[in-house]
Order: sequence, then C-alpha cells, then structure tokens
Amino acid sequence: MCGIVGIVGTEFTVGELIDDLQKLEYRGYDSAGVAFLSTEKVNIKKSIGRISNLRKIVEPDLFSNIGIAHTRWATHGAPNDINAHPHSDCTGNIAIVHNGIIENYAELREILIKNGHTIKSDTDTEVIAHLIEENYEGDLYSAVLKSVKKLKGAYAIAVMHKAHPETLIAARKGSPLVVGKANDKTILASDITPIIKYTKDVVFLEDGDIAILKGNDIRITDVNGNIVLRKTIHITWDESSAEKGGYKHFMIKEIYEEPEAIESALVGRIKLEGPFLKEIEEFNLETINKIKVVACGTSYHAALVFKYFLEKHINIDVEVDVASEFRYRNVYIDDNTAVIAISQSGETADTLESVRVVKRKGAKVIAITNVVGSTITRESDATIYMNAGPEIGVAATKTYINQLVVLYLLGMSILKKRNVWSENLEKDLNFLKNSPDIFRKMFETIDLKELISYYKNFNHFMYIGRGINYPTALEGALKLKEISYINATAYPAGELKHGPIALLDPTFPVFAIAPKDSLYEKMKSNIEESKARKARIIAITTEGNKEISSIADDVIFVPESPEDMYPLVIAPIIQIFAYFVADMKGYDPDKPRNLAKSVTVE
Ligand code: F6R
Repeated sequence: MCGIVGIVGTEFTVGELIDDLQKLEYRGYDSAGVAFLSTEKVNIKKSIGRISNLRKIVEPDLFSNIGIAHTRWATHGAPNDINAHPHSDCTGNIAIVHNGIIENYAELREILIKNGHTIKSDTDTEVIAHLIEENYEGDLYSAVLKSVKKLKGAYAIAVMHKAHPETLIAARKGSPLVVGKANDKTILASDITPIIKYTKDVVFLEDGDIAILKGNDIRITDVNGNIVLRKTIHITWDESSAEKGGYKHFMIKEIYEEPEAIESALVGRIKLEGPFLKEIEEFNLETINKIKVVACGTSYHAALVFKYFLEKHINIDVEVDVASEFRYRNVYIDDNTAVIAISQSGETADTLESVRVVKRKGAKVIAITNVVGSTITRESDATIYMNAGPEIGVAATKTYINQLVVLYLLGMSILKKRNVWSENLEKDLNFLKNSPDIFRKMFETIDLKELISYYKNFNHFMYIGRGINYPTALEGALKLKEISYINATAYPAGELKHGPIALLDPTFPVFAIAPKDSLYEKMKSNIEESKARKARIIAITTEGNKEISSIADDVIFVPESPEDMYPLVIAPIIQIFAYFVADMKGYDPDKPRNLAKSVTVE
C-alpha cells in the first residue's frame, strides 16, 4: 500500500501538491517524492523517510501545471532515496508513481536490460517507466495502454511525460484509484482524502480502467481503448473524517481493509501447480524434520495456528515459543532444523535477539514481516513479506490476518514440496483464494453492536477454543484486554476443569470459539460445563448450526469453511468485538495505554 496523487490543469505550487500528498501519509511513510514540470523539464525530488523530509528538499513556491507525488510503503526494494518514487525512464522525460505489486517485474526487467535500458532501482515500478519508454511513439496514452497489457499483478499508476504538459494518464488494476475534476483542474489519488478539498464528486476507477486527465476533462477507457462510463459518486465526508476513510478509528478501517490486504499477500503466490513462495526456494524444506517458530504477542498466536496446521498434515515437529523465553533457553539446532521468526514490525527486540541466538548456532532463519527493510529482514536468511500495507492502529488486525495467510501458504508450500497433498489441502487453497470475497460478504452482513452494548459492561471474559481454534481464543482475549482494559483470559477449552472453571459465575461470560469442526462435540461439552456454572455464553459457530442456540446465550455465525481455515474467518469477528467494546467504553482503540506499535526494548 502506497499513496499517490496527481494534478493537472491551471497552476498550483509544488507545496500544494505535497500538502495533498500529506493526507495519504497514513498509507506509507518509508519515502516520499514528487515530479513536476518546470522550466520545460521533468523535475523529480525524492527522499527516504516521511513527507517532512521531502519538504526539506523542494522549493514549495515553484509553480507547475502538472505533477505527481507518492508516499511509499516499500514492497520491492529497501526504503532508500533511489527506490523512492517517482521513477523515470532512460530519457528522463517520463515520470511515474505506482501503488501495487508487479508480479512479473523480474522477467520484464531482464528483457528491458537486454534491450539497452539502464535500471537504477530495485523496484518493480521503474520497470513500468522503461516499458512505457519502449512503447512510446508520440502518444502517451497508447504507450501506457500497450505497457499495462504486459503487467501481471496489481497496480494503480499515474504517468506524466515532458512532451505532454497538459495530460496525466492513470491506470488501475487491483489497487485503488479515484479521480475528480474541479473547475480548472483534474486530480487523481489513491483515495478521496486529497480530492475532497477540490471536489466532492469523484469517480472510483475500476480494474482495467485507463484514465486520461486533461485540463478539467476526464476520459476513461478499458484496456482495448473503448470508452467506458463510470458513475460519479458524491462524497459527504469532510476532510478530517476522510483521512480515516470515513471510519472513526484506524483500527476499524484496517479491519475493513482485510480483503484488500489478503489480496496483496496472495499476489503471485498461487500458481497453477499450487502454492508458490519464491523466498523459500533455497531452503531445504524437503528434508527438515523440526521447525522452531519464534514470535511475540499476536504474531505468536499466528505461529500457533501454523503449528496446528502443519502438524496435522505431516510428521514434522513444529515448536512455537514466545521470543522473550526462547532467547534465554538452550535451544537445540541441527542441520534438520529450520527457524521461522514472525514479526509484523520486524523490530521487536526479543524476536530479533532470538534470530541472533539461533544464527550463532548455525540455523537458517526465515523471517515473516510486514516492513520492508526492517532489521529482521537484514538479519535473516530469507524474508516473506505479508504485504498488508501500513497498520496505524497499535493493535494488530490486518497484519494478523496476513500473517495467517502467509503462514498457510508457507505450510502448503512445504507440504507440496514433500509431495503431501490432498483434496482437503486443495480445498484450503481454494478457500484462501476466495477469502477476500468471503470477508467482504461477511463484513456486509455482520452487526454486533447490540450484542456488544450489552457485554461491554462485564469486567471479565473467558475465551476458550480447541485445536487450531485455541490460538483464536488467545488472540480474542489479547485484543479485548489490550484495547478495552477488560480482564480477558484464554484457555484451551479442555483445561477449564483443571482450575479456571472456578472463576465462572454470571459475571464472567465465556466466549467460545466453536465452529462445526471435528472437535465441535468436545467444545459443546465445555460450553455445557460453563453454562452449568451460570456463566453467560457467546459462541462463534458455523452458519446453519441451529442446536447451539439452545446452550449459548448469544451466537455469532461465520461462513462454513474448511476445518483448517476457521482461524482466518473467525479472526475479524474477535477483532470487531474488541474494537466496539473499547469504542463504546469511550477508549481510543488506536492508542491503547501503555502500549507501543513496535516494541524495540527487551
Ligand atoms: C497485539 C500486538 C502485539 C504484537 C507484538 C509483536 O495487538 O500488536 O502483541 O503482536 O508486540 O509485534 P511484532 O509482530 O511487530 O513483532
């Protein structure tokens, strides 16, 4: 996820263009850049870090009639000045900004280099600039049209050319792009935030659309050059609510971004032959018999799901540990052991130290992170990125979802490599592919507000689950306690009677993660046990499970899913529950007390 802005029309200042970009900084802050036409040349200024760094190197009062700007969330290539956008071609006449991931950029890059292009950055975006240069014969629109036909993956791009000072070309597939026209200009952006200052009537481009922005005119075509008509939408938000996409907090916005985040995690990672993670190709995952996974907090819960998943399908010992314990243990590593370190931020001190400890013992480490160029990526042997885009809310939401997606893909890749494949795994993979739409549908129908307004008044919660759904209980309790300050605790359901059941009474509700899977009957007994202690029961179960209403006080349904995949579909429910409890109690879920997004101290 990155933010892009473009303006064309009557004069504006570079400072104004950067002000517009500033509204998209929440989408990424690894680097920022701007391109504008001035003194008859394309000027590009860019800098690592936040937009404030960019401001230090531009003259804000310079006028221009056309410009594009970008704030980056790195996906290909570390965050640095060279990899910052805009990118240009060999002639310096073209400038482009891009949000998305080009899957086939390595092949295209090779062809372009053979054709004599010099490519300076490690990004997938620069390749597009050179591709447009190759296809340019005096008409920028045709060059972009020809070029996007060669791209696989996701993109929202904005392109300008020195020879066309009055025209911006934009194209969209998979990544969002909105356009709008004011009296004397047209504007494009990744979302409406920078646009509503100019106009509240906007057009959301659809996949395959190419837009030509000229003066105050916008024309949209499909990839075959046919004009397409798109509805103009009137926006009623004001500027400040637009920054959070109209949501009250980043946390809920980020939960609702999960379908898009999953799509980014899957790009290029499911081939015809099955799951494919190029990052692990050099690892001997065919022969190892032990995997150690190390992580903290929510990332640790994702690791536990991975353990249940992989151990179910193959005889591999998967050991999961919290990093603050792991780093002080005498961990045995041999040639048949692989280590996986999971950290959304890539900067968690205990997880990093655990990586160092096992590296000193000769282990090879695969990191899973969301932040390109973070410390963990530099200290590990390979990195699998989650591609969730920036997460501003302190509590992990969409990054947890993407950790699960990436870990399922990793597990499936290991199984495929070892020729352990089954109809059930094929179903799992299909479910993963369809999960963005399954989430979208779920979000359209889910409404927990009434339920939550009742439960927000309780001071304690017991989350229970079994098997692969036990980590969901842990994650549910963590989400609730960290943002609503309610005492929530989680147990494997079978453990209740070994002590914690003593806590239960009418003031201590039980949140049961009870989908209709092979352990459902056991869960039912645990729910009955809790009910017998007069605890209220909220159950999450599978759509169509009617009998549970007779034992649970409240039921939340999720779509029927393959057994392995319930942790994925249930996760947004426990996140939404925690979010609204915190919000209704008047707390700010984006900034819970005593917590930081990245825990860089021991
Ligand atoms: C909870 C949460 C934390 C993090 C933990 C590890 O919502 O966000 O528990 O999961 O601090 O952080 P990373 O994954 O950055 O290592």
